[in-house]
Amino acid sequence: MGPLSAPPYILHITWKELLLTASLLIFWNPHTTAQVTIEAQPAKVSEGKDVLLLVHNLPQNLAACIWYKGQIMDLQHYITAYVIDAETIIFGPAYSGRETVYSNASLLIQNVTQKDTGSYTIQIIQRGDKTKGVTGHFTLHLETPKPSISSSNLHPREAVETVILSCDPDTQDVSYRWWINGQSLPISRKLKLSKINRTLVIFGVTKDTAGPYECEMKNPVSSSRSDPVTLNLLPELPKPYITSNNFNPMENENVVALTCEPKTQNYTYVWVNGQSLPVSPRLKQPGKNRFLILPNVSRSDTGPYECEIRDRVGSMHSDPITLDVLYGPDFPRIFPSFTYYHSGENLYLYCYADSNPPAEYTWTINGKFLQSGQILSIPQITTTHSGRYGCCVRNSVTGRERSTFKTIKVS
Ligand SMILES: *[C@@H]1O[C@H](CO)[C@@H](O)[C@H](O)[C@H]1NC(C)=O
Ligand SMILES: *[C@@H]1O[C@H](CO)[C@@H](O)[C@H](O)[C@H]1NC(C)=O
Ligand SMILES: *[C@@H]1O[C@H](CO)[C@@H](O)[C@H](O)[C@H]1NC(C)=O
Ligand SMILES: *[C@@H]1O[C@H](CO)[C@@H](O)[C@H](O)[C@H]1NC(C)=O
Ligand SMILES: *[C@@H]1O[C@H](CO)[C@@H](O)[C@H](O)[C@H]1NC(C)=O
Repeated sequence: MGPLSAPPYILHITWKELLLTASLLIFWNPHTTAQVTIEAQPAKVSEGKDVLLLVHNLPQNLAACIWYKGQIMDLQHYITAYVIDAETIIFGPAYSGRETVYSNASLLIQNVTQKDTGSYTIQIIQRGDKTKGVTGHFTLHLETPKPSISSSNLHPREAVETVILSCDPDTQDVSYRWWINGQSLPISRKLKLSKINRTLVIFGVTKDTAGPYECEMKNPVSSSRSDPVTLNLLPELPKPYITSNNFNPMENENVVALTCEPKTQNYTYVWVNGQSLPVSPRLKQPGKNRFLILPNVSRSDTGPYECEIRDRVGSMHSDPITLDVLYGPDFPRIFPSFTYYHSGENLYLYCYADSNPPAEYTWTINGKFLQSGQILSIPQITTTHSGRYGCCVRNSVTGRERSTFKTIKVS
């Protein structure tokens, strides 16, 4: 019966035990080694598949073979060993549960993962001179998956936004390469590759740099290329402006319609008057808010208005316009309220009526014109100054006029 026909006797033993039981490694001298060749079968293996590391040119008088992950032959990197005479398989700390070593020294790795990539070392011990040995090295690469490009932003704003493209998945042991319009990347300050070339930063993306982009992943056994990806540029937002049928409406008379220009279907419009409108349920905003209608304008509607256009990623404000509501004059009032004075005192009267533009003031006494101006000041009055004083206010723009009277008695 050959060693392959009987199931090997499988042991889980420690490194120390291995050294004692096999006593194979005691005089191992790594400087005296010859090499065997190792070949992967199949040559290209993708994640989740199985791969056999075939050992060629095995020496005669095989006593044992030991597989290590990496290039260092120590306990930590020890995967598994086959001891020929004992028909025994031994597992070490680097054993993942998916490796099988055969009596011909080949190693089967099932269901390979990214972690299995990298170098492997086989150490072969021959009967007789235990100080001599044979080693072999192999580097396992997986077939590169088809990469895909992901973008930090597929709809960047033209000329202002920075976009980061990544070539996915992030894979060990591969080199990355990019193309734009089927050409190698030009040297440009607008394009910057990361250290390992997996990500590409595009500054201030424009039509010239919108793509299509492709990326490639490559290792010594395979290479694969992504589908092309083109960035969809959003045009720059125009600065909006406000037009109005009337910038100087009269209170309680005029209807004011403000319009935010320009008209386009791609934006939404927002009106701002210190805060976001509507500030009052009176304000009507038909037509997706491009119009702002103040049906019965009042003085509280005075003030700056701004409109804003928005799209999915940004917004742009207009300059403010001022709605100057004309009103008044309101009913005038005369201060102070005293009516009795003594001869020799100074008479000082002040009239006020709210109005836009400010009212013109006229004073009368007993129906006769006295003077114009808001303040009436007469020093050292005598009894002849007794009478009915009138304050008449007038707004020449609204055309309204109002009067109030006050009787002064001088004793
Ligand atoms: C070693 O044994 C394995 C498993 O039986 C077999 O598939 C492989 O072909 C053998 N390798 C060589 C080099 O004969
Ligand atoms: C392969 O490995 C993956 C993840 O480690 C696991 O989900 C899957 O069941 C394994 N497949 C086989 C056939 O062992
Ligand atoms: C990154 O790409 C540049 C140019 O395409 C190339 O010269 C460089 O060697 C690459 N670097 C790496 C780490 O692959
Ligand atoms: C406008 O409002 C004022 C008071 O707020 C009211 O007196 C006037 O009748 C209103 N005018 C119209 C046309 O609704
Ligand atoms: C509005 O959007 C459509 C589709 O998104 C686009 O084709 C059109 O050019 C845009 N119009 C303007 C004025 O930006």
